[in-house]
Amino acid sequence: MSVRDRWYQDAVLYCLDVETYHDANGDGVGDFAGLTAKLDHIAGLGATCIWLLPFYPTPNRDNGYDVCDHYAVDPRLGTLGDFVEFIRAAEDRGLRVIVDLVVNHTSDQHPWFQEARDPDSDRHDWYVWSDEKPEDADEGMIFPGEQETVWTYDRKAKRYYLHRFYEHQPDLNIANPHVRAEIERVMGFWLRLGVSGFRIDAAPFLIEHKGIDEVSGKADPYEYLRDFRTFLSWRRGDAVLLAEANVAPGEVPHYFGDGEKLHMLFNFVLNQHLFLALARQRKAPLERGLLLPPKPPDEGQWATFLRNHDELALGRLTEAQRDEIAEAFAPDRESMWVYDRGPRRRVPPMLDGDAARVRMAYSLMLSLPGSPVIRYGEEIGMGDDLSLPERTAVRTPMQWSDKPNAGFTSSDEPVRPVIDSGPFRYQAVNVDRQRREPDSLLMWMERAIRARKEADVFGRGDWHVVDTDHAAVFAHVCKRGGRAAAAVHNLSDAEAEAALDLSAYADRTPLDLLDPGDGLPGITGGTLSLSLPPYGFRWFRLDRA
Ligand code: GLC
Repeated sequence: MSVRDRWYQDAVLYCLDVETYHDANGDGVGDFAGLTAKLDHIAGLGATCIWLLPFYPTPNRDNGYDVCDHYAVDPRLGTLGDFVEFIRAAEDRGLRVIVDLVVNHTSDQHPWFQEARDPDSDRHDWYVWSDEKPEDADEGMIFPGEQETVWTYDRKAKRYYLHRFYEHQPDLNIANPHVRAEIERVMGFWLRLGVSGFRIDAAPFLIEHKGIDEVSGKADPYEYLRDFRTFLSWRRGDAVLLAEANVAPGEVPHYFGDGEKLHMLFNFVLNQHLFLALARQRKAPLERGLLLPPKPPDEGQWATFLRNHDELALGRLTEAQRDEIAEAFAPDRESMWVYDRGPRRRVPPMLDGDAARVRMAYSLMLSLPGSPVIRYGEEIGMGDDLSLPERTAVRTPMQWSDKPNAGFTSSDEPVRPVIDSGPFRYQAVNVDRQRREPDSLLMWMERAIRARKEADVFGRGDWHVVDTDHAAVFAHVCKRGGRAAAAVHNLSDAEAEAALDLSAYADRTPLDLLDPGDGLPGITGGTLSLSLPPYGFRWFRLDRA
């Protein structure tokens, strides 16, 4: 694969849930027609690839991650015809689309599972069963507090089935070749409809051997990843796999392989350390988070994000570190924390709506190594609604305007309440308004994304951390060929004077990337001395003359 073909390495991803994005037919539920009508917003922001959360038929007990037909569109969101129209309209704007591939488990309402409950049916072995309740049945639950076990008795099968997630989500048996063939059919189906790849939901559980060791003969589970990749690449050469794998740094190489397994992984380790750095207002955890996981192979890439549709999972930090984050960003742990893992809040409320600090956090997301993943609403600084249960708090409808229900729907019964009180109410925080304000977050983010693309090094460049003499000032350089660019961030609420060690670039002239009008001092004696306001940041080019 030629370097230029690796579109995902300088992609800007934008993630959304069709259900809460925009409702075109006025029934209160977002739909594909509504999303299609808003594609110019996404393209205008500068995103290059949309990641769609599950939009398949579903009993909807886990926000669509409980699929009951992998080959169709949830009728509330539209039809397959609407999906294809959407793909075509996205393509017209140069936008690629990747979709969630949820095949670790299905809904218990899926016809496969319903058939499988009959122990004599051919489908029985599509799921993972046990005659006895395994001794470790209460270990490895994903939703502690909401879930009591990972093995539940099925009265019809008269056996226990494995479910890593909720009890209504039985795990598929990945060791069964029929299941694997079916997963390939599912991928093949959506590839034919024009998608550019998949976000693999719950990747570590998808490939695990829990309950199927005897069948799988303890085969190397990571080999499945290679099989997926081979299949994908034969069907569509430029399609990618992006895995949700919140794994320890040491496990990362198993997922990327030497570039022949997954193309992209969300950088969960960096994410968690980034929040620790924000909480402490110190650069050290961020530097550690960057350096802990091994660098991806040439063909690999990180997906860099701040928040996703789940809780902010902090399981890779120590308990004391989690406490620090709670104290800073979720002081009322009772209402703001979930599953013993982390906050169920969006970024702006965690940062008390401090505009400079929010912008600094998004600036990190857009400049740190990897391809950034913007979650819908981040471009305008949307908040959360803690009166909603669990993770629903961060899944409220997109705020388009100050019209009733945020312009999300013309119905007065939106699928989920819009935020209409407090500092993040839609009357104050919406796309329409920010489009008219040159200094809004939205307008800033458009400019920052353009600057990122023009610099052409932040995504796939080789990077290194820059030494600074200030504990709150983090700096790094990305370079490729003769081009280089640096970003420097003041994580603290105090002004900072910092000296950056740029001796390797002593002969270059720093040129500001974000506000080209703003002058920068030169590099003298290998050092660049900068003064940054509270939460201030700069990006600048360091191209070879
Ligand atoms: C992933 C999703 C999460 C979902 C779970 C079960 O972790 O991100 O939202 O609940 O998988 O499918």
